[in-house]
Amino acid sequence: TRTAVGIVGGGPAGLMLSHLLAASGIDSVVLDNRTRHQIEQTVRAGILERDSVRLLVDAGVSDRVLREGHEHEGIELRFGGTGHRIDFQDLVGESVWLYPQTDVFMDLAVARERDGGDVRFGVTDVAVHDVTTDAPRVTFTDSDGRACEVRCTVLVGADGSRSTCRHEIPEEQRRHFYREYPFAWFGILCEAPPSAPELIYSHSDRGFALISQRTESVQRMYFQCDPAERVEDWSEDRIWEELQARVAGDGFRLKEGRITDKTVLPFRSFVCEPMRHGAMLLAGDAAHTVPPTGAKGLNLALADVRVLHECLERFLGGDADALDDYSARALQRVWRAQHFSYWMTTMLHRLPDASDFDVRRQVGELTSVVSSRAGSTFLAEAYTGWPGRKD
Ligand code: DHB
Repeated sequence: TRTAVGIVGGGPAGLMLSHLLAASGIDSVVLDNRTRHQIEQTVRAGILERDSVRLLVDAGVSDRVLREGHEHEGIELRFGGTGHRIDFQDLVGESVWLYPQTDVFMDLAVARERDGGDVRFGVTDVAVHDVTTDAPRVTFTDSDGRACEVRCTVLVGADGSRSTCRHEIPEEQRRHFYREYPFAWFGILCEAPPSAPELIYSHSDRGFALISQRTESVQRMYFQCDPAERVEDWSEDRIWEELQARVAGDGFRLKEGRITDKTVLPFRSFVCEPMRHGAMLLAGDAAHTVPPTGAKGLNLALADVRVLHECLERFLGGDADALDDYSARALQRVWRAQHFSYWMTTMLHRLPDASDFDVRRQVGELTSVVSSRAGSTFLAEAYTGWPGRKD
């Protein structure tokens, strides 16, 4: 097969890029070693920035996000046993949408299928070749066991945090920036009505908790835990006791229900620079991951894709230099998001060896954020997403 853009990775980043390219009349082939069903079964984060929603709607991918997603005009920061609302609409005139990443994937997969896009899930042995030439290739084995090859003009690695494309950049030509955290999230899905109208990010003496939502009858919640924690050691009763303790104060109680999913989610901060090597460009988690606090991961991947689509359009239209500034433009937003995610994480989580000073300093910081319009506005701008035009 010959195509203009070979895309390794059929998650939201790869599919969105393929969709946008098709709208510009540019051919692409998307390959993923997971099946569509496998990707649909993975529970992911659920918050879309307003520009992510606009992209889905404007690109004709989905109006389901507007019908079934929930607009959230703010969040609650909870500390010292009381809640403090950050009002996004009042501060920056914007909202975010609660709409699971899995649904974004499903909408994109349906749109690519509807438009006749070439997307091949469940392929194996994916390998990229000749990425520094003007004729890069991807080889793979298709789901019938046949050896196949895609020849392309440009290759995109949108193959997630365990990217194989990234490793095609020789070590002496890439830099990795990396930070680990001494905690993970214990995530649950439960059958219960929402406990609050908006998300709650809670700082407590027992550590962080996040109360999120999915539907009227299914809720998503997380609490900070040791990365070595085992889900088997956590009964329903123990989980509810821990979650209730982390949001306690002023009489607030979570609505409890049957827990249908329990997962320990380790996380880290990571950036690979540059995001381009010859005719290969990286997008999304293949180039960077952020800790989950603030839900920037998918939004950042979609922001990469917006910039990349524009660069590819110019490049394939004959502007030979058009790929040169992709990495620097994308990385500007990546580092802002790295800072925001790190800041939210370190402000709200309890370090295992935290002193009383550390904890009181965090409460001082949270007090500044909620009591200063400038402080709240900084959070609101970052949470709802920085404007794309200034990328
Ligand atoms: C969700 C996840 C996040 O990391 C976050 O900051 C907000 C919401 C979620 O899964 O709903």
